[in-house]
Amino acid sequence: MTEPTAEKAKSSFTQTTTPLFLRAATGELTERPPVWLMRQAGRILPQYRALRARFPDFKVFVKTPEAAAEATLQPVDELGVDAAIIFSDILVIPEAMGLDYEMVEAKGPRFPKVIEGKGDIEQLRSGHAAAGSLEYVFDALKIAKKDLEGRVPLIGFAGAPWTIFAYMVEGGGSKTFSRARRMLYAAPEAAHTLLQKITDTTIEYLKGQVASGADLLQLFDSWAGELPPEHYRIFAIPYLQQICEALPDVPKTVFAKGAWFALEDIGELPCEVVGLDWNIPPAFARARVGEGKVLQGNLDPCCLYAHPDVIATETGEMIRRFGRHHIANLGHGVYPDTPLDGVRAFVDTVKSFSW
Ligand code: CP3
Repeated sequence: MTEPTAEKAKSSFTQTTTPLFLRAATGELTERPPVWLMRQAGRILPQYRALRARFPDFKVFVKTPEAAAEATLQPVDELGVDAAIIFSDILVIPEAMGLDYEMVEAKGPRFPKVIEGKGDIEQLRSGHAAAGSLEYVFDALKIAKKDLEGRVPLIGFAGAPWTIFAYMVEGGGSKTFSRARRMLYAAPEAAHTLLQKITDTTIEYLKGQVASGADLLQLFDSWAGELPPEHYRIFAIPYLQQICEALPDVPKTVFAKGAWFALEDIGELPCEVVGLDWNIPPAFARARVGEGKVLQGNLDPCCLYAHPDVIATETGEMIRRFGRHHIANLGHGVYPDTPLDGVRAFVDTVKSFSW
């Protein structure tokens, strides 16, 4: 399907066989789907909680490359997943652009100052000037890549421009995202200026991640489902397009949560993999995305609270529904209190599957 990308991505592995995850992500038919979990690095493992306890401040943890690399490897060692994802956060981008955030214990991120209009947007750094301050993520990737010793590929990531925009305008999570959505109607030019600055920064950041060892990239558009379809086409897709075009050397996954209405447009992006949330039936997605891409997802994270037999049945059914050209994952990040036995039942079911 995507040969030039496939060849470049695979050339960073010295093993005789290219890892399963990279083969699947580049469109090869594989013996079984690869498996990993969004938000696997952090949240669920006791080893992670012990590591986390050494850092009262989440941001200090994220900025300590040795610790971030350790958290990255923990799910590979403990669960046997087919890929590692670098331990970091999508909010390092607003911070690098000059909009500081706090991680409030048990509540989530909060921005003391938010973007209200043109004047605030002009003040922000962007592109190389902003991404240059993210050296700590590049260092974490280099350590993780070395410590993985080629066992599994390393996924780099960033938030998609619309999702980062939403955090910068709202100042945190929101029930309605009405401040961010309002700006798209009331000040569309300012909105485009901000989205472009985020995009320029994200491109430099992701190039740095690839140079530091990321084998694949994922874009998290966590708040995609908040937009009306037409606005997703105007304010999200063109920026995703720019990012995908700027990074031709590695496979890219676009995960736009809740954006079932945008699957045709996402199917035309120059990315290799489309991530799906649990609301989307596999056949519905395949019909809209087309045959040219690999689909990733999409078990309901709540399934992992069930008895292992139920998890095995649901996971097997999901794999069969997707058919080939599929990467097994949840439909969103694994929840913090998910029982480890449930996570293992999911991973082990996929790993014992055979086409
Ligand atoms: O897969 C991984 O675990 C890698 C690391 C990773 C984190 N955040 C670490 C983290 C990744 C990929 C993210 C992405 C992220 N961050 C997203 C997109 C994915 C999604 O879930 O939709 C979003 C929206 C954020 C923003 C964010 N960061 C929120 C809302 C919160 C608070 C609640 C939570 O835990 O999700 C964070 C904090 C955060 N990011 C933690 C971790 C391990 C918890 C911090 C802590 O330990 O106190």
